[in-house]
Amino acid sequence: MILVTGGAGFIGANFVLEWLARKGEAVINLDKLTYAGNLASLESVKSDPRHVFVQGDIGDRDLMERLLAEHQPRAVVNFAAESHVDRSIHGPADFIETNVVGTFKLLEAVRAYWGGLTGEDRANFRFLHVSTDEVYGSLGKNDPAFSETTPYAPNSPYSASKAASDHLVRAYHHTYGLPVLTTNCSNNYGPCQFPEKLIPLVIHNAISGKPLPIYGDGSNIRDWLYVTDHCLAIMAVLEKGRVGETYNVGGNNEKTNLEVVKTLCAILDELHPDSPVVPHEKLIVFVKDRPGHDARYAIDSSKIRNELGWQPQESFETGIRKTVAWYLANQAWVDNVISGEYRNWVQTNYATRT
Ligand code: NAD
Ligand code: DAU
Repeated sequence: MILVTGGAGFIGANFVLEWLARKGEAVINLDKLTYAGNLASLESVKSDPRHVFVQGDIGDRDLMERLLAEHQPRAVVNFAAESHVDRSIHGPADFIETNVVGTFKLLEAVRAYWGGLTGEDRANFRFLHVSTDEVYGSLGKNDPAFSETTPYAPNSPYSASKAASDHLVRAYHHTYGLPVLTTNCSNNYGPCQFPEKLIPLVIHNAISGKPLPIYGDGSNIRDWLYVTDHCLAIMAVLEKGRVGETYNVGGNNEKTNLEVVKTLCAILDELHPDSPVVPHEKLIVFVKDRPGHDARYAIDSSKIRNELGWQPQESFETGIRKTVAWYLANQAWVDNVISGEYRNWVQTNYATRT
């Protein structure tokens, strides 16, 4: 079996479902269930004996050591993190605690476990760390896309904390020989993403007739990848990646935020003509920018494509339609997560922007 951390979050839950469907191998799913963790995303595997959910913190070394000793996983895939840039600006402490200290403690527990393995179990063990393209900083309009050799230059407390965790993972390989793999992926979108991130926030606001807040002038560029394609990339790296290497993962879908929001509005006009405000574009408002807002991300994914034969299955056009359709069909999932905590966050982040 494998141990997944953060498997009740957006990408982690998609990964667990995809893993069970494609590989059939059992998963221990360790998640703290912060505001971002949601067991409703895992409803379909609730009674599946191959999925064991444990609520806990990657920073709880005793718990992690116990879980590793009891279940003897052949791999650990680390998704657990605080992941929202705006929250890292309002309150960086949790990001340092989980992304830096938590990753360190998890590495210590894994190092002790791996140190006790022998023979093939030791040789085949892998620790895969899921990271982000944001560690590379921001690109100018005509700069080449980020490659695996682009120097790290994180700009937000979130990306700095992820960069620190990547460096720890690298050091545990270099110093202790821990068999690690790291993936640095661009912006994901798809089912089960918490509606604090741009795409699900815009879908949710649009169908509720609320303003669609675009930071600055909407010209910032992100490289979008459908979440299942990210999950398949992680599986490919886990299976065939070279130990100690990092792999960049991206969709080759550079879009300005304004383009993304207008695309969502057009799809919603078609799929949800009964919204309170149509055309949905009428809801767009330009609001105060994110401090330190990175201008452009773009990923050169030629290494994973050439070495491991991975390539995205979804285009932006097919993936974004599927995503809108999923949110329209799963209002109950959204209603379940827009609790008091969510309303407080919306107030904290947006009240002073307009
Ligand atoms: P998310 O915020 O949706 O989910 C994070 C999950 O981790 C939640 O279930 C949360 O409960 C859990 N968690 C948080 N702190 C924990 C702790 N201390 N111990 C155990 N569990 C904890 O995030 P996501 O978007 O699914 O991202 C998953 C990973 O992928 C993160 O490491 C993120 O940096 C990385 N990533 C995200 C994107 C993206 O576009 N969303 C892109 C590239 C990389
Ligand atoms: O690049 C990978 C990263 O993508 C991941 O590492 C992060 O975990 C993930 O959250 C994401 O970070 P971003 O900051 O790019 O995603 P977000 O959805 O927050 O914002 C996308 C863009 O949209 C960004 O330029 C900011 C802008 N934006 C965002 C929000 C929430 C708005 O214009 N309005 C908004 O209300």
